[in-house]
Amino acid sequence: MIHYSDLGLINSREIFKGAMKDGYAIPAYNFNNMEQLQAIIRACVETDSPVILQVSKGARNYADPTLLRYMAEGAVRMAREMGSKIPIVLHLDHGADFEICKSSIEMGFSSVMIDGSHLPFEENVELTRKVVEYAHKFDVTVEGELGVLAGVEDDVKAEKTLYTEPDQAVEFVEKTGVDSLAIAIGTSHGAYKFKLKPGQSVPPLRFDILEEIEKRIPGFPIVLHGASSVIPEYVDIINKYGGALDGAVGIPEDQLRKAANSAVCKINIDSDGRLAMTAKIREVLWNDPKVFDPRKYLGPARDLLKAMYMRKNREVLGSAGHGKDFYHLIKD
Ligand code: G3H
Ligand code: 13P
Ligand code: ZN
Repeated sequence: MIHYSDLGLINSREIFKGAMKDGYAIPAYNFNNMEQLQAIIRACVETDSPVILQVSKGARNYADPTLLRYMAEGAVRMAREMGSKIPIVLHLDHGADFEICKSSIEMGFSSVMIDGSHLPFEENVELTRKVVEYAHKFDVTVEGELGVLAGVEDDVKAEKTLYTEPDQAVEFVEKTGVDSLAIAIGTSHGAYKFKLKPGQSVPPLRFDILEEIEKRIPGFPIVLHGASSVIPEYVDIINKYGGALDGAVGIPEDQLRKAANSAVCKINIDSDGRLAMTAKIREVLWNDPKVFDPRKYLGPARDLLKAMYMRKNREVLGSAGHGKDFYHLIKD
């Protein structure tokens, strides 16, 4: 058993309180490889933003859970060597069962998500409560989910959003003791969030549901998954240099800014990072067919990714400049 505090990580409790008080959201960025992790850490150090590093089941299968854990430890050291004390959380994204949550906690994760959103309500409550009981023994924070997002999460595909029921959200939080709750208000995973007919615009998020939830559980941290904007500029570059992403569309940034001002304390972004990297790699390889050194395309991809995260922290989530609010929590 390795406790996250020995790795220089913190759980999400205090940063969520800060985000709630000051009306911003903590970025939760997924990583699967070194370049993504470097981009996240450099961007969050340079913008002085708290950050949640997320590891999905797909990432564990791709890179190996042990390697990812050591990479996260290395990332904390790298940030400290850069002279920064930004708070860093290592979070399991979409934990499917108790065992994966337990093994992540034993490896040094400081936060886990147990995703029982596809289960009947009582089963979701039971599973989430079991994870909370175990996690809290080690002061690891737990995110649950209620409601179903349309789109693809790991191997699970849902055609339609099942919006979170505000009354159920209260019952869920009370019965499980969970620390934060992911809700369904119209976001969805992946790069194809809405099927729009010509002339149609993206439907707004259901802020009415969010407000009802906020009223019933004031001050309780809410999480938004599936919050990539599917930045059109990157989609266009991908398509220009041989890609075929037709009809890719995401959540407009003004909607996310509005959410970040509310009880939404954590915003999950993965697809935008994938698009940024792919756009740059395609551009480099298209323009210079002689390139065969991965550093020549992964390096520029990493730089674009970093710039994207910096902009999100500053202009969308509002987390930039808030790292210092938590320096006192970081051990030297
Ligand atoms: O919620 C899904 C995340 O974007 C992770 O996706 O399982 O393909 O790594 P992944
Ligand atoms: P996106 O696919 O919108 O980036 O969502 C990522 C996510 O929710 C990770 O849990
Ligand atoms: Zn998600």
